[in-house]
This record gives sequence, structure tokens and C-alpha cells, in this order.
Amino acid sequence: MHHSAVDDSVIARMRAIRRDLHRHPELAFEEERTAARIMAELDALGIPYDYRGVGSGVIGRLGAGHGPSIALRADMDALPGQESTQLPFASEEPGRMHACGHDAHVAMVLGAAQLLAADPPAVGVRLIFQPAEEKGGGARTVIAAGALEGVSAIFGAHVTHHYRVGQIMVADGVITAQSDRFRIDVRGRGGHGARPHEATDAVVITGFLITALQTLVSREIDPVHPSVVTIGRVEAGSAPNVIAETAVLEGSIRSTLPAVREQLLAGVQRMARALGDLHNADLQVTIQPGYPPVVNTAAEARLAERAARQVVGDAGLMALDHPSMGSEDFAYYLERIPGCYVRFGARPEGSPYVPLHSPAFDIDEGVLPVGAAFFEAVVREAERSPAAATAQA
Ligand code: NI
Repeated sequence: MHHSAVDDSVIARMRAIRRDLHRHPELAFEEERTAARIMAELDALGIPYDYRGVGSGVIGRLGAGHGPSIALRADMDALPGQESTQLPFASEEPGRMHACGHDAHVAMVLGAAQLLAADPPAVGVRLIFQPAEEKGGGARTVIAAGALEGVSAIFGAHVTHHYRVGQIMVADGVITAQSDRFRIDVRGRGGHGARPHEATDAVVITGFLITALQTLVSREIDPVHPSVVTIGRVEAGSAPNVIAETAVLEGSIRSTLPAVREQLLAGVQRMARALGDLHNADLQVTIQPGYPPVVNTAAEARLAERAARQVVGDAGLMALDHPSMGSEDFAYYLERIPGCYVRFGARPEGSPYVPLHSPAFDIDEGVLPVGAAFFEAVVREAERSPAAATAQA
């Protein structure tokens, strides 16, 4: 690896920050202590910042005061769930943990800030510490507060066990899915379990509906375009001898193309309507739009690739075989300005693959200097070739 620029003191500082945040995870829009730690670190580095209170994020400003800035983004929030790692710095907050590595993301961007502050770049750098990636789309909150004003391109990253430390995945185009939620309220007519002819059974209709919805992806969507329809929650009925009057289904839809998304949403509506007609029931569909897909722009993906190559060499630069069906609110930034979202390999040596959001999730802290060096290299690359950071390919 080539990140010799990250000396031991920077690594030690990042590790201390990451472990402190890991011990004290905070949920979406409650990141008060996390913000305080970030501000203390920025104060120590002499980097000015804006902060508008709990849940608003911290926006640091480094380097040139005029001209377009490059933004580096770290998400701050943890997840509900009980940690099972047995780490000496495991969560001390019952029912909350950094199961998605956002503690490491904050530490890496602060590490990059330290490297950049030691040798200030000619290009401005915006450090975006964003709340609530997991729930609520904190990206929209910080964008509304003006975090992107004067920013020409944005870069972000996520740790993953899909790769080892020393591997960085960089890709152009769509890398995560659009996510949407749906809810279907089934209203029949309740009755006695022995007299079905006097009732309209919401449970039976729900059974047909579950089966019908499974044919959307398998029979209606072109199989070369990835998509998912998952029904994650079903609720109906009150007693074995009572015909249920109502039922509720809730699910998640993932897609990577707008046309496929439209087809799936319309399909859910059509099937619900048709089953209502078929069984004399009333079915209401509610769609709750989720995060849009993350779509990296070409010029910024190439810049990120050059930066990654400097840190992990050709061997460490990984391509994307297919988009992830997960979702990420970094998409909101990329709806407004160019940028690139990459993945850092963080699977500990000899450890089995552990998915993000698992209570057993942990990272190899060797990823911290890789991440800091990558973010620094992105800024140096943008400084070297400003056109590449601003021109849309
Ligand atoms: Ni995450």
C-alpha cells in the first residue's frame, strides 16, 4: 500500500475518535455528543465550522475562501440494536450500536482534514458531517441548510466486508438502488368464523395478494434489470373463530431504473385494485418514496479512481460487478452536483463476512488510514486538475 503519508499519530487519533464514537452511538437526528466530538477535533485543527444544533450536522470549511470547493462527506448516525461484538470499546448505550461503520467514516474524514490542514490545498474543502443517513435522509437537511453552496463536486464512502483492507471499489453510474416502501390496507367485512357467506375475509384476500405481488418481479420485469419486491410485515385478525375485517401489508421495493420503478409501483396498485374487484373488498395502496439511486458521475469517478490508485495501487482498485440493492442518502447530493461514492474494504483478516447492520459488525481499523489517504488524494487530484472536478462528462 502507498499511504505512507498517514503517520502513526494521525492513525492513533483516528482510532481514538472511532472507538469513542463506537462506545457512544447516537441514533438519527440525535447526534449531539458525536457533533461535539467532531467540533472539538475541528477546533484542535483550527478548522472553522457551522453548527446549528442537534441533528443538523457539522459543516467544516478548509482552504481557499473563494472558488469552488470539494466536499467530503461522512455520515454520523448509529442504529437501533444490541451489539454482540465483545469489543473492549463496544457500545455502552443499550439498544444502540454503530453497526454500519459511520463511526469509522467520521474518523476518516477527520483524518483527511488533519492531513489537509497540515498542507492546505489551493482548492476549498467542505467537510460535511451529516446526521441521519439511516433514517430520514439527513442529507436533505444539510443541503437545505446550504452545505453545498459553492461546492463543485462531492465525495463519500462506505466501509464494507465485501472487500479487504487495501481494496477500494470505484464505479461510474448507478451503484445503489432506488428504495420505496408501500403499505396496502385491505378492508373486507368481519364476521363469524363459521359463517363465511356473511363476511368478506381480509386474510384470504391478503394471501392472494402476497402471491400475486411475487409475480411482479418474476413475470413482469425484464430480468436483466435488477429489482426486488419484499413484503416484510403482515398483520390481520384477532381470534381463530373470527373472520378478519382488515389486514395490513407493508413492503419494500428496490429498483435501479426509473422505468422499472414506475412499472413496479403501477403493478402494486393494479394488483391491489384487481383483487379488491375480485373479492368485493376495498384495498388502498400508499407509497412512501425512499432514497433515489446513487449515480456517480463519470469525471468524478475517474478522479476517484486516480486517487484510489495512489493509495492502494492498481491491485487494490476494484470494479463493481452489479449495483447494490441497498440504498444510501448520498443520492440526494448527486441529484444536485457531480460526485462519486466509493466503498472501502474493511473485512478483518481471517474474519467471516459480516453484513452491515449486523449486531456482530466490526471493521479492520487498517481501513482508517486508507480512507483518510483516499479523501486527501481526492482533494489533491481536484487541485491538480480543477476541470476534472467540475466538468460533467
Ligand atoms: Ni451506512
